[in-house]
Amino acid sequence: MNQAGSMIDPFGRAITYLRVSVTDRCDFRCVYCMAEDMHFLPKKDLLSLEELERLCAVFIEKGVRRLRLTGGEPLVRKNIMHLVRQLSRHLQTGALDELTLTTNGSQLARFAAELADCGVKRINVSLDTLDAEKFRAITRWGVFDKVMQGIEAAQAAGLKIKLNTVALKGFNEDEIPEMLRWAHGRGMDLTVIETMPMGEIDADRTDQYLPLSELRARLERQFTLTDIPYKTGGPARYVEVMETAGRLGFITPLTHNFCESCNRVRLTCTGTLYMCLGQEDAADLRAPLRSSEGNDLVSNAIDEAIGRKPKGHDFVIDRTTKRPAVSRHMSVTGG
Ligand code: 5AD
Ligand code: SF4
Repeated sequence: MNQAGSMIDPFGRAITYLRVSVTDRCDFRCVYCMAEDMHFLPKKDLLSLEELERLCAVFIEKGVRRLRLTGGEPLVRKNIMHLVRQLSRHLQTGALDELTLTTNGSQLARFAAELADCGVKRINVSLDTLDAEKFRAITRWGVFDKVMQGIEAAQAAGLKIKLNTVALKGFNEDEIPEMLRWAHGRGMDLTVIETMPMGEIDADRTDQYLPLSELRARLERQFTLTDIPYKTGGPARYVEVMETAGRLGFITPLTHNFCESCNRVRLTCTGTLYMCLGQEDAADLRAPLRSSEGNDLVSNAIDEAIGRKPKGHDFVIDRTTKRPAVSRHMSVTGG
C-alpha cells in the first residue's frame, strides 16, 4: 500500500476530496442536466455497495479527507444508507473530516434523520426555483412540495443546508433575490452555478447560459455584497449579503476558471475515475479492484490516474460551439 496522504497531481495539487456518484439514475429530469429519454447504465455494470465502500476506503487511506456522495440522485440507490453507515466509521476514526451529500431533496424526508445519525453535518440541496409550477417545468418530473418537506426534515434533523441553484437565463434570473431572502431567512446558504456544457440535452445551452458576472452586477443594485474568504472545500467563491446577513456563493466554471485550486477527483458507480469534471480522460478502477483481494493494484491504478490529472477544463458555451465539452451528463459524475 502506498503511503497515506500521497496523492499529489502533476500541478502540485493535493487530492483530498473525493466525490462519488453512487448512481447515474435520478427521479427528476432537469432540462439542463438530462434529456427526457435517458439511457442509464445496466444494473450489472454497477459496483456493489461493498465495492464502492472498499474503493472509498482506499482513497481515504491515500489521503482523502472529505467525501461527497452524489449522483444522479444518491438517495434513489437501493440500500444507500448502508453505504453511508459504513463510510461514517471513517468519521469516527478521524480518518475522514467530512461526509456529505448532494441531493435533489425528493427523498430527504425519509432519510434526513438517519443521515444526521451517521454524522452527516451538511448537505447540498439542488433547487432552481421556489415556484411549484416552474419547478415542475425545470425538473420535468419533480414534485415541489416533496422537496420542501425534505428540506424541512433535514433542518429538523439538524443538517446544515446549502442550496445549489443553476442560474438559467429567462427562467430564474429574476427570482434569485427572492431565493436569497428565502434561503437566508431560514439559515441556509445559497450558491448559484453557471450551466456547464455536459452531455447532449434537448435544449440549446446558449439559450440557458447566464454569466454570473452579469447576475452579480444585477444583484448589486439591490444588495450589498462583500467578498469573504469563506471556503467549504469546493469551487464556490462567497460573498456576504449585508441585507439578508447570509452567504451567497458563485460557481463560475465559464466566467472565472477555478481549476488552479482543484483538490478533487470523481468516482462513478461503475468504478471509473474522472480526474476532471470537464475532460473525457478517465481511469478504470473496477478491473484492478476485482482482480485482487488486496488493494495494491487499485492503489497503483489511482496513483497512475492522479499522475495525469489535467490542468483544467475547457468549457465554452457559444453559438458556434455545437457540441458539449464532454459527452457524458452531469448525472454520471455528479456535481
Ligand atoms: N451545469 C451546471 N450544473 C448542473 N447540474 C446538473 N447539470 C448541470 C449542468 N449541465 C447541477 C444540479 C445540481 C448539481 C449536482 O449540478 O442542478 O445542483
Ligand atoms: Fe437529477 Fe440533479 Fe440531474 Fe436534476 S440536476 S436530473 S435532480 S441529477
